[in-house]
Amino acid sequence: MLQYWDDSAKYVDDKWDYFFGKKIPATQALIADVLSLPSPNQIVFAPNTHEFVYRLFSCFDLAKPIQVLTTDSEFYSFDRQVNRLSESGKAQVDKIKVSENFEKDFIKQIKTKNYDLIFLSHVFFNSGFVVQDLTAIVHAVKDTKTIIVIDGYHSFMAVPTDLSAIADRIFYISGSYKYAQGGEGCCFMSVPKNCELRPEYTGWFAGFSDLAQQGSEVVYSNDGYRFAGSTMDFSGLYRLQAVLELFRKEALTVAKIHRQIQKMQKNFLQHLAGLHHPILNEKNILRRDFNQHGHFFAFEIGDADKTKELHDLLRANKVHTDYRGTRLRFGFGLYQEDCIDLHFLKSTN
Ligand SMILES: Cc1ncc(COP(=O)(O)O)c(C=O)c1O
Repeated sequence: MLQYWDDSAKYVDDKWDYFFGKKIPATQALIADVLSLPSPNQIVFAPNTHEFVYRLFSCFDLAKPIQVLTTDSEFYSFDRQVNRLSESGKAQVDKIKVSENFEKDFIKQIKTKNYDLIFLSHVFFNSGFVVQDLTAIVHAVKDTKTIIVIDGYHSFMAVPTDLSAIADRIFYISGSYKYAQGGEGCCFMSVPKNCELRPEYTGWFAGFSDLAQQGSEVVYSNDGYRFAGSTMDFSGLYRLQAVLELFRKEALTVAKIHRQIQKMQKNFLQHLAGLHHPILNEKNILRRDFNQHGHFFAFEIGDADKTKELHDLLRANKVHTDYRGTRLRFGFGLYQEDCIDLHFLKSTN
């Protein structure tokens, strides 16, 4: 934050050249390294992922309903938006349930139609399920015009991810406000190389390289920045860059982080086993395979009032969880050392 302030004071109006010439390329390179993306300049930044979601929708002529395939477990930035577009007849949406057989069901549905847009998470925010084989899903899409979007917000810096095989086919979106520990304000999207889409929702950052060009058609950058908006606060990007550089200096790779979280999850399961709680027990944790799981456990409590009650009781005992409806989530962070002690629950069974 201080560096951002100092640079703003030092460069004044020239700070934009500095951001675009130095800070953005450096952060693009760090992200590309984490995700094995071959072309760092295909990464574009925005303050939140919703901006990218709507920019992607704006690539279509919404006069006729766009055909969308997605899941029943997408985060609200996409889900709410697609529901609204469906309400107004601009989108026709098929949502596949995320279950044990998710990949099979999803691929089966892909084969039924030529979808305009396919949107799915890598790690589902409401269960922690990890999509086992993103590449197989991407390869099942035969129409090269179909836009494929992966929401990687719950996988970036949490689950080891190598996008090299599909980078030129997918839009991958994520941001700094979770496992990347950079705080809010710095989301990013990786855009396939040679993409020629012309989002209608476009800002002046998308035409930087062509500002001098005079023509009747709106021109776009030939890299990730064709999906840019406009002026944003770059202090988030400074933070993200600083965190990623610190992790690199400490040799803190995603594989290492993931192993540490898996160890803590194992300890937590052991602790639960000794607790014999009627609700907070292993049976009620949504999962397919604990060895391939996101960095939180979501308990299906079955009753919304009971869920809130448990959340409040935990909070009163300094255990912070979050809940929505009947699902209660426990997060595991790199900065935690020991398993939490839930023995206080015994007296409240
Ligand atoms: C899966 C997923 N995608 C996206 C987001 C963030 O969306 P936005 O940047 O639009 O607020 C979140 C935030 O919790 C999320 O869990």
